Amino acid sequence: MALIEIKNLTKTFGPTTAVDHVSLDIIKGETLGLVGESGSGKSTLARLILKLLHSDAGTIIYGSELERLRRDCQLVFQDPQTSLNPRIRVGEAIAEPILINQLKPKAEAKARVLELLGLVKLPLNYVRRYPHELSGGERQRVGIARALASSPKFLVLDEPVSALDVSIQVDILQLLKELKERLKLTYLFIAHDLQVIGYMSDRIAVMKEGQIVELGPPAEILATPHHPYTQKLLASTLKI
Ligand SMILES: Nc1ncnc2c1ncn2[C@@H]1O[C@H](COP(=O)(O)OP(=O)(O)OP(=O)(O)O)[C@@H](O)[C@H]1O
Ligand SMILES: [Mg+2]
Repeated sequence: MALIEIKNLTKTFGPTTAVDHVSLDIIKGETLGLVGESGSGKSTLARLILKLLHSDAGTIIYGSELERLRRDCQLVFQDPQTSLNPRIRVGEAIAEPILINQLKPKAEAKARVLELLGLVKLPLNYVRRYPHELSGGERQRVGIARALASSPKFLVLDEPVSALDVSIQVDILQLLKELKERLKLTYLFIAHDLQVIGYMSDRIAVMKEGQIVELGPPAEILATPHHPYTQKLLASTLKI
């Protein structure tokens, strides 16, 4: 069952066609991996889906459970360092979306913040810490807690571990998998690392110059890539 149906979606920036007639279904409960080299249009597609950008053409149909789009669809950014305000304590940062969207009265927001810290497995006394008092992995946990504050159904994870040390990448990926099961989420997971995408995804979409050039289960895409571009991507990953 499609949670989100995308048809012929197109977005241009001046002479650049960032997203070029993309048609794609995101199925409820899946992790759809979106891979492609820098500039291929991944983040633009994500922002179109989240309605942070207007498309030039095409349609996006949202499932009935996504009718409160701003609450039900959330974004986790690549770099928690820049997405967190250095002067705002962790507790306030997580409380912010709760208070702005009036999800809970102020008196109840604190309990919700602690619940969210627990969900992302951070010690509860971190509420009083500032972002610079956290490791990169811990900051990304705060970014995830913020995204979960509105109890979304759908998360876009735009390179959520690319800025992190390899040793903590796996911890965050595992946490994301656990959260997806526990909270029955659907993910659009963007990365340029095919290993990370393969580990996370139920299906993988390969993007090149604004178009989806290949789509299928990881076993198929990673073992027998059909498109020359996917073969090239795979070869460049394995070289490392
Ligand atoms: N706001 C904008 N104004 C002008 N051009 C833009 C804008 N946003 C994106 N682009 C262009 O659209 C194309 C796709 O960019 P996008 O950020 O979607 O790529 P990406 O696949 O997410 O790349 P990366 O892996 O580096 O994050 C690029 O050519 C980029 O320069
Ligand atoms: Mg991007």
